[in-house]
Amino acid sequence: MSHPSTSPSTTEPRTDQLSGQERASAVNNIFERIAPRYDLMNRIMTFGMDQAWRRFVISKAQIPAGGKMLDIATGTGDIAFEAIQRVPNVTAVGADFAPRMMVVGRERPLGKRVQWAAADALNLPYADRSFDAVTHGFLVRNVIDIPRALREQFRVLKSGGHVVCLDTTPPRDNILRPFIALYMTRIIPLIGQLLTGQRDAYTYLPNSSLGFKSPDALASLMREAGFVDVQYKTFNFHTIAIHWGTKPQ
Ligand SMILES: C[S@@+](CC[C@H](N)C(=O)[O-])C[C@H]1O[C@@H](n2cnc3c(N)ncnc32)[C@H](O)[C@@H]1O
Repeated sequence: MSHPSTSPSTTEPRTDQLSGQERASAVNNIFERIAPRYDLMNRIMTFGMDQAWRRFVISKAQIPAGGKMLDIATGTGDIAFEAIQRVPNVTAVGADFAPRMMVVGRERPLGKRVQWAAADALNLPYADRSFDAVTHGFLVRNVIDIPRALREQFRVLKSGGHVVCLDTTPPRDNILRPFIALYMTRIIPLIGQLLTGQRDAYTYLPNSSLGFKSPDALASLMREAGFVDVQYKTFNFHTIAIHWGTKPQ
């Protein structure tokens, strides 16, 4: 997979309008380019709320002390770090298909505690029933085949283990929606341009979020993958959804 070092020209198709391997490569390329400023950008555009969402993810993952968790699409490892801080003696595997994101994560204070792994969420290099919990943040909106990604997570999870999924969700059609859409389509790309120099990465975020699956539709896909007790909670004016479910015994 090639990683051009410059932003795509404006004449190229939008990443959210691509499909299949072309889209996967474009997504991979975006995260390779924004890796150095990814964490700072997250803190600023979410007003620091993103870490609270990740804490909620770990609370729902119910990882036993000494257990083993997989954070797929770990990026710079925020969810894996949260697990390390909250769960005694946890083994945290952080896997992603964009190596530069993990290089940034490895340099962070708890970076040596995470077992980093290059992996595609659609083809996890782990045996069946390897993990007590599987988490992911902002994967499902990016991955080209959500049912397959969920089936892979189900496969590598132990019976009784929990999956937790954090992602953006389309804002509700109410009085707030125009303001939220304005923030997402105008302000975020501007901050992204100023902080990362990669405006297209931060136009991809609103473009892929506003038309993404509703929380109910995503919950249905999780049930179809085999998970039970699937529930979700929304945050931040219904722009973020956290789903969780269990692999039956
Ligand atoms: C927005 S970042 C999220 C990083 C981290 N989970 C967090 O909460 O900040 C999305 C990550 O998903 C990764 N990703 C997207 N598709 C993937 C795939 N098919 N397999 C593995 N990682 C993928 C990207 O490389 C990127 O690091």
